[in-house]
This record gives sequence, structure tokens and C-alpha cells, in this order.
Amino acid sequence: MIEINHLYKEYGKDVQALNDINLVIDRGEFVFIVGTSGAGKSTLLRMMIRESLPTKGSIKIFGRDITRLKNREVPYLRRNIGVVFQDFRLLNDRNVYENVAFTLRVIGSPTKEIRKRVPHALELVRLKDKAYKKPDQLSGGEQQRVCVARALVNRPAVLLADEPTGNLDPGTSMEIMNLLHDINIRGATVIVATHAKEVVDHFQKRVVVLEDGRLISDQERGVYFNAH
Ligand SMILES: Nc1ncnc2c1ncn2[C@@H]1O[C@H](COP(=O)(O)OP(=O)(O)OP(=O)(O)O)[C@@H](O)[C@H]1O
Ligand SMILES: [Mg+2]
Repeated sequence: MIEINHLYKEYGKDVQALNDINLVIDRGEFVFIVGTSGAGKSTLLRMMIRESLPTKGSIKIFGRDITRLKNREVPYLRRNIGVVFQDFRLLNDRNVYENVAFTLRVIGSPTKEIRKRVPHALELVRLKDKAYKKPDQLSGGEQQRVCVARALVNRPAVLLADEPTGNLDPGTSMEIMNLLHDINIRGATVIVATHAKEVVDHFQKRVVVLEDGRLISDQERGVYFNAH
């Protein structure tokens, strides 16, 4: 479903953010991408949603090389990929319901559909009672759950999460990760970039390790320990 071949990303002359990455991820897999700060995790995820183009190499998703998509084709790719960003990117002047509905409004979903799907997504992340709060009235964990609801409301085939538990305590981190795991069980391919060792070790899923832009290890049922 996702096939990355000889992917390179350079920023200027000095920074090799990604260096010859080769990676195949099948439909329905759950994959952790780990590595120290600056290893290239976010850069790799950004390439997968065409937020940034590689210097060299290809990324096939759903059978198409997305590095070759025309700009006007990019929204179609993004419809099928949900993203939980490292920095939330919630709209602070809109309430929780509207933040989640926004994804559907952008793609022109009918109002009837929105009225059905948004409450369902909020129920999944257990935030139905906070639907009319603004993001700044929520805790960090709750805001992150809004991000998860926003990413899944569209029922994407692929869900990417960049450090979804960044500033959360271990209990809340595990809760968010359980949520992502549930989404995977329901059939989505889930890819999570993270530093959270205890989470990675707990789930025993496939672990891909990046170091200085290189993929240095790829193990089924891995643990974070392998990263160091
Ligand atoms: N827009 C950019 N311009 C220049 N350099 C960049 C840019 N984005 C990332 N980099 C560099 O590319 C490298 C990889 O960065 P990236 O953000 O992918 O790391 P990361 O593994 O996600 O780190 P973290 O765990 O801190 O989020 C770093 O050296 C970073 O400084
Ligand atoms: Mg990052």
C-alpha cells in the first residue's frame, strides 16, 4: 500500500534529512517510526502527505507515485490519509465539533453526513461532552484527542500520527495510543512517529528506526531499545 524507494531529502547543502530510505508498509499494518530528535521522522511523514517534495526517490501510495501528483490532485490523496500533527494545528476560534467537522466541510461532505460522522468520531475519542468547548478550554490530552477525531472522521485508509503523545503524561499517552490501535484494528494502516519508549515497548508492533536520516533497523514486534 505504501512503497518508498530510494528517498532522499536535502535541506540546503548541509542537511541530509532523509538518506536513501526504502520502506514497504502493507495495508492494515501498525508501524512505529522512532529515532532521536532530528532523525528525520517528521520529514518522512511530511513527504507521505505531499506537504513537502523529496529531493530524489519515489513514494507510492495506493499504487501511485505521489511525488508526481499535480498540485490539484493532492487534495484527493489527503482525503485518504488522516494526520495527527506534532503541533496539533487546531483552529482556536472554533469549537471541538467545528474542528472535527472542518475536515468534512473541506471535502464537501453533505451536512447530513457531517451530522452523523462528527458525533461518532467524538464518541470514539470520548469527547462528546466537550463538543462545544474551544481548544484553549481543553487539557493537552483532550486537544490531542480532538486531533485524533479530526484525523479519523473521514475514515481514511491510512492514519499518520507525528508524536501524538508529545506533551502528555504516561497514562494519557497510553490512552491516545490505544485509540490509534483501535483504529488500526478497525482496518486503517497506522504509522506513528514517536519518542515514547514505554508506548513502543508495550505494543510490540513493527518498529522502524531512523538515525541521521537513514533507516538503520526495521523489526516486526520490535522494542524501542533497538534504537540506541
Ligand atoms: N524546513 C526545514 N528546513 C531546514 N532543515 C529542516 C527543515 N525541516 C527539518 N529540517 C532538518 O531536517 C532534520 C530532520 O528533521 P525532522 O523534523 O524530520 O526530525 P524529527 O525526527 O521529526 O525530530 P523530532 O523528534 O525533534 O520531531 C533535522 O536536522 C532538521 O533540523
Ligand atoms: Mg518531528
